[in-house]
Amino acid sequence: MKRLLVTGAAGFIGTNFVRRVLDVRPDWTIVAYDALTYAGNLANLAGLEATGRFEFIHADICDADAVAAAFDPRPWAVINFAAESHVDRSIVGAAEFVRTNVLGTQVLLDRARRSDLHRFVQVSTDEVYGSLGQEGRFTEHSPLAPNSPYSASKAAADLLVRAYHVTHGLSALVTRCSNNYGPYQFPEKVIPLFVTNLLEDQPVPLYGDGLNIRDWIHVQDHCDALLRVLEAGVPGEVYNIGADNELTNRALTYAILHALGKDESLIRPVKDRPAHDRRYAIDSGKLRRELGWQPRVDFAAGLGDTVRWYIEHEPWWRAIKSGEYRQYYERQYGAGGVNAPV
Ligand code: NAD
Ligand code: TYD
Repeated sequence: MKRLLVTGAAGFIGTNFVRRVLDVRPDWTIVAYDALTYAGNLANLAGLEATGRFEFIHADICDADAVAAAFDPRPWAVINFAAESHVDRSIVGAAEFVRTNVLGTQVLLDRARRSDLHRFVQVSTDEVYGSLGQEGRFTEHSPLAPNSPYSASKAAADLLVRAYHVTHGLSALVTRCSNNYGPYQFPEKVIPLFVTNLLEDQPVPLYGDGLNIRDWIHVQDHCDALLRVLEAGVPGEVYNIGADNELTNRALTYAILHALGKDESLIRPVKDRPAHDRRYAIDSGKLRRELGWQPRVDFAAGLGDTVRWYIEHEPWWRAIKSGEYRQYYERQYGAGGVNAPV
C-alpha cells in the first residue's frame, strides 16, 4: 500500500483528485489533510472512509506538530493543494494568503526534507507568470511576474520548493495549471458563481469589458496530469498543465447562459478587478512530450456536464451560499464593493 498525503483535500481540486486516485489506484491509501477554511468542505469527501483506504486529518499546514503527526507513519509521497485560492479575496486582505501559501508550504517542506519521499508535488498556477498580450503562451521558462497578492504568494511557494530541491535534495517539483472548472468548485469562482446565480435567476457580475481571456481545463484532466507528475515527474522540474482552450469571459458567459436557457439581460456589468490580468494561455508541450499526458475533456461537453452537476447538487451549493458567503457577496458586489455595479 502506498500512503499518499494530500493537503487541501477538502477543496475543489483536492476533492476531485482524492476521489480519482481512490478509483484508479486500488493499492493506495489517502491521508487527507485540511484545515476546513471557508473553502474546505468535509461533505465533499463523505463516504470515502468506506473504502478502507481513506483517513481525514483536520489540521492546518502551518501547524508543524500536526504536520509531523501526519508524517507518522512516513508517507510515500505528498501533494500540496492547500492554499487560499481566490484572487479577489487576496486584494481585500493578503495576510492569510502569505500565511497559508508561503509559510504553510515551508512547514510542509521542512518536514518533507527529513522523510525520504518519492515525490513532493506543489500544485501551483499559471498566474505566477502574470499577464499576456494578444500573442504567445506561457512556457516553463516564462519569467515569474505575479500581479495579485494571491499569485505572488504562490510564486513565493514555488521558489521555496525549488530551493528545498536544490539545497536539501528534496524530490520536489512544481506544476502550474490554468483555470479549472468542474464539480465541487466553490461558488466564488466565475463558473460556479454564474451557474448558481442563474439557477436562482440572479444577475451575473461580469468584470470590466468582459474581454479578459482565461484558458480553461476540466478538473479531471488536471487531476490526471497531477497523477502522472506524481508518479513519473522529474524532481526539480516545473510542468505547465493546460488544455488549449482560451475564451473571453464574455464568450464564457454566453455559453453558460445558453446551457441554462437564460437571457443575456441577466449580465450585470460591474467594476473591474484591480490589476486584472488580461490574458492567460498555457503551453503544456513539455508535459505532453515528456510524460505522455494529454487532456481528454472537450470544453463544450465538460461545461454541459458541469452545469448539470450544479443543477443536480443544489443542496450542496445552497448550503454554501447561505452562510458567511452572503456577507462576502455583499462586500464584494454590493454598492461600494470592489466589484460594484457600474
Ligand atoms: P480551494 O480554495 O477550493 O481549496 C483549498 C483547500 O485548502 C480548502 O479545502 C481549504 O480548507 C484548504 N486550506 C486552506 N488553508 C489551509 C491551511 N492553512 N491548512 C490546511 N488546509 C488549508 O482551492 P482549489 O481551487 O481546489 O485549488 C487547489 C490548489 O490548486 C491551490 O493551491 C491553487 O493555488 C491551485 N490551483 C487552482 C486552480 C483553479 O483553477 N482552481 C488552477 C491552478 C492551480
Ligand atoms: P476567477 O474564477 O476568479 O479565476 P482567476 O481570477 O483565478 O482567473 O475569475 C475568472 C475570470 O472571470 C477572471 O478574468 C475574472 C472574471 N470574473 C468575472 O468577470 N466576474 C466574477 O464575478 C468573477 C468571480 C470573475
